[in-house]
Amino acid sequence: MRYTRELFGVAESPMVRIATAAEAMPGAIKLCYGESDLPTPAFIGEAADQAVKAGHTCYTHTAGTPELREAIAAKVHQLHGVTYRPPEIMATVGASMAIYAAIRAFVGHGDNAVIISPTYAIFANGVTMAGGEARLVPLAREGPRFQLDLDRVRGAIDAGTRMLIVNSPSNPTGWMISVAEQQALVELAERHDLVVLADEVYERLVYGDAAPPAAPSFARVAANRERLIVANSFSKTYNMTGWRLGWAQASEATIKVMYKAVEFMTSNPSAMVQQAGIVALRDGESYLADLRAHYARQRAAVIATLSNLPGVSLPEVQGAFYAFPRIAGLTDSAAFCTELLRETGLAIAPGAGFGDGGEGYVRMCFAASEATVGEALTRLSNWLTRRE
Ligand SMILES: Cc1ncc(COP(=O)(O)O)c(C=O)c1O
Repeated sequence: MRYTRELFGVAESPMVRIATAAEAMPGAIKLCYGESDLPTPAFIGEAADQAVKAGHTCYTHTAGTPELREAIAAKVHQLHGVTYRPPEIMATVGASMAIYAAIRAFVGHGDNAVIISPTYAIFANGVTMAGGEARLVPLAREGPRFQLDLDRVRGAIDAGTRMLIVNSPSNPTGWMISVAEQQALVELAERHDLVVLADEVYERLVYGDAAPPAAPSFARVAANRERLIVANSFSKTYNMTGWRLGWAQASEATIKVMYKAVEFMTSNPSAMVQQAGIVALRDGESYLADLRAHYARQRAAVIATLSNLPGVSLPEVQGAFYAFPRIAGLTDSAAFCTELLRETGLAIAPGAGFGDGGEGYVRMCFAASEATVGEALTRLSNWLTRRE
């Protein structure tokens, strides 16, 4: 068949291949996806139920109801001290739709976008689907941490560059961008007439003794709103992955362009889901505090085990819910994960699936019960020790 060049260029995810194999395997543990094993909390489900009964079953404005946009603006202000007006916010079908609409608004044929990697494949594939060129610039690994390699970012920018894309806290690395690094990217955007697309879907999942309620947002440092689009989501914060609700923050003009495009793709997120989102934002803080404490315990277990395994080097997990260890001598992470699954029944994701800089690493999601994470760590460490 003659598929379009843009869609033909979209790579099949190695994660999907591993997950499909795991699903056919009784007793397999699936930590290859970016998702918690916990259900959405009951108070959010009840809010959706009530919303249906109250008649929230029709189309809404493509960019979401005024109430939801206001609730998002209030949360952004509460967390970051930055004021967005509702017309500068748009509710979307997951952060995924916000990301795609943002890319479509700025990147077309002949353009390119510079993407900080390793990262979730949505960005490179979104750019490819928009007809542009994805330029992946790997983070530098400095001892226990990743950090931005600004010289390489500068070197990747040329006259065709329209967008800088960065996800922090990061899937898969757990890296959290510093404010100084944010400032440096914003300055580059100003100098080269670019837009920063900042994916902050893991902003509420940060760890450490003095962890703030949210990771630093680009919204705090980008004085010129024309140069910034923030994508965010309810998926990870409130365990609402299946509900498909996210949002974008940008200038009013950019939001208008984005929702014009979305009008003819998904249109608005479901009306009752938007109502549930308002309740999640309003009442979700104590649930979120417990969730963070739960993830922090699993993170500690993962660090304790992986830091002591020979040949394994684990970068600091500053945020999100992934461990991204490098395995000494590993040159084919897809083959490694396939073999690990076949021999132990543990499914984790190959680092190669996250683009440049990912090969040699594997990603394990620790947003699972203590028993599941514990069993996964036992399987992985026994297998790695046997291979020594
Ligand atoms: C970095 C990142 N951005 C966006 C998404 C998609 O989020 P949503 O479920 O809101 O579409 C994911 C999901 O795994 C992610 O890891």
